[in-house]
Amino acid sequence: MGFKVMGVAAGRKNSNGEILLKEALLACQEQGAEITMINLNDYDLKDCTGCTSCTMGMSMGKYTGCALDDKDDKKKIMNVLLDQDAVIFAAPTFALMPCSTFLKFMHRNLAYETAFLTKIGAIQHRDRVGALIAVGGSSRAWQSMALECMHATTFSNSFQIVDKYMATMVPAPAQVLLHDEKLARAREVGMNVMKALNTPVAERGWLGDENEGWCPNCHSNCLCLGEPQWRGLQYPIECTVCGAGGDLVKTEDGKWKFVIAANGLERDRTSEEGHGVHCDEIADTQGGFFMNPENHKIVAEKIQKYKNIQFKGI
Ligand SMILES: Cc1cc2nc3c(=O)[nH]c(=O)nc-3n(C[C@H](O)[C@H](O)[C@H](O)COP(=O)(O)O)c2cc1C
Repeated sequence: MGFKVMGVAAGRKNSNGEILLKEALLACQEQGAEITMINLNDYDLKDCTGCTSCTMGMSMGKYTGCALDDKDDKKKIMNVLLDQDAVIFAAPTFALMPCSTFLKFMHRNLAYETAFLTKIGAIQHRDRVGALIAVGGSSRAWQSMALECMHATTFSNSFQIVDKYMATMVPAPAQVLLHDEKLARAREVGMNVMKALNTPVAERGWLGDENEGWCPNCHSNCLCLGEPQWRGLQYPIECTVCGAGGDLVKTEDGKWKFVIAANGLERDRTSEEGHGVHCDEIADTQGGFFMNPENHKIVAEKIQKYKNIQFKGI
């Protein structure tokens, strides 16, 4: 049986992101994959309202779906997207990060949290491969959080990201067509997706540039100082994307390197197990809040002050 590969674009029609995505998907199709491709701009997609009814249900061991399930096209897309073996996402960079159309769509994934839903027995685990393409008018300096934000949004559905590519310096519509090397790199993304699909799950790993990014675990380029996490875990330095913990070490040639600690992947957000720790955290913090009647009394008393304040709006 052939693999199912889907492309999800979020930028302009027939422009840079779509072109690179199609190039990657063509490589998959040539290797026998069944291709589906959508552009999120063609759909009615509402913002997550933040109601958290989905995670409230999950923290009580129930699958409630999303409160917006019958209000827009998200569910229709997810029914197809979650039935894929691999998905390649392509988003334009706006203000250093992926455009809001992409983020709006991906932030609605909380209700489809595969790690959480598998943990409570609501769904069967499924291995999925993913790849990311960011495209922007400038260099990496002006796309500094693009791939990192895209990667962070894929944890919810447990995509194993095997490659990510940032196309730089292509601001004008379809300008990427002037750069054969960028089209070739996008094609490589597709080939790497197929290579991963043809590799046994336990042996699947990163297929992009080995030296990409600071983090040897998820290859992100963003690190931060570690602060105490839920239940006190702390590292000197953390990867802001996957949460790998460790420290900066100077190599013999005088360069800084991020070295992951022996326990540094305990809460690795790219693994369903590590990501699942966050499910326990939510059950503790949110579930714990709801379970204690005293908390509701305190909030009911204190909230009145804030409800009564009405500042001038626009
Ligand atoms: C509101 C807005 C903000 C943008 N911000 C950035 C940016 O921070 N960095 C960057 O490299 N390009 C930025 N761009 C340029 C787009 O990323 C670029 O035009 C890209 O090619 C769009 O992809 P598309 O052709 O697939 O739609 C911005 C464009 C718009 C409209």
